[in-house]
Amino acid sequence: MQENGKIWRDVQGNVLHAHGGCILFAEGYYWWYGENRLGNRYVSVYRSKDLENWEFRNDILTTESKTEPIRQKTDLTLKRENGKVNIERPKVLFCEKTGKYVLWAHYENGENYLDARICIATCDTPDGDFTYHGSFNPYGYMSRDCTLFRDDDGRTYFLSASRDNADLHVYLLTDDLLNVKKHINTLWQGEYREAPAVFKKNGKYYILSSYCTGWRPNQGAWAVGDSMDGEFTELCNFGDETTFHSQPAFVLPVEKNGETKYIYYGDRWCYKGDELTVAEDFGDSMSYYIRSTYIVLPIRFTAEDEPYIEYEDRFKDGI
Ligand code: DGJ
Repeated sequence: MQENGKIWRDVQGNVLHAHGGCILFAEGYYWWYGENRLGNRYVSVYRSKDLENWEFRNDILTTESKTEPIRQKTDLTLKRENGKVNIERPKVLFCEKTGKYVLWAHYENGENYLDARICIATCDTPDGDFTYHGSFNPYGYMSRDCTLFRDDDGRTYFLSASRDNADLHVYLLTDDLLNVKKHINTLWQGEYREAPAVFKKNGKYYILSSYCTGWRPNQGAWAVGDSMDGEFTELCNFGDETTFHSQPAFVLPVEKNGETKYIYYGDRWCYKGDELTVAEDFGDSMSYYIRSTYIVLPIRFTAEDEPYIEYEDRFKDGI
């Protein structure tokens, strides 16, 4: 069994790199997409039937990915002369309208975090080579840590940290999932929220997030609202002062015995100082990045539907 905070491996025995990612259920499998910084890779995908045994399928986005412009203006740069760009927190959804799997992520130029853009890519299959369609600033805004959320009415929302991370923006997407359509909300001005993760329970929208301390973990928070374009509550503590040494990646709703369970997936980043580095300087050939791992916990709810996690809870009831 994969253990929280330990190195996770795929069924082939290799370290599982799907950091800052998401899990999508499609075509009878769970697909786990996430960051892989090794070599020329940006995003890898694994698949599983049981959320426990993960089969590596493909490096879906790399420095060599095919690029293709789309209607709106984007920057197709996917590598630098002397290195890579950064592609972080990839999220993938299936678009019914176009029949494509669509990836949204956070793009930076690889030298600093000043571009603060969205980037997008598409593919006909969940684990094929994705075609890169470039990066852009939505309506000119900065856009850093991000997530996608598909509502049960078919609408899709993108949330991302803006104004140097000070505010969290919410956008409604176009039906082809290739652009933002409307900036519909700005949340928690000056609170510096990163790592947003959204789920919906009993018609209410919950947003988990972290504070902004680089790769170091901090106190997580939750908030709830009646609609994505409406008011949300203030931030309430989630987990302990380091969110059990993790930062939200996503929340996976899973149907079990006619009931929906909500599972918290957090990244336990392994960093040096404030930096996430792939330098092979750990002394045993395991780089810092390779040691980044995951925390998976069932989300519990109080009688008032307030979400919480307990560290001892891992798989207690067999999720
Ligand atoms: C923590 C974030 O959640 C990461 O995705 C990344 O943006 C780093 N901060 C950058 O410092």
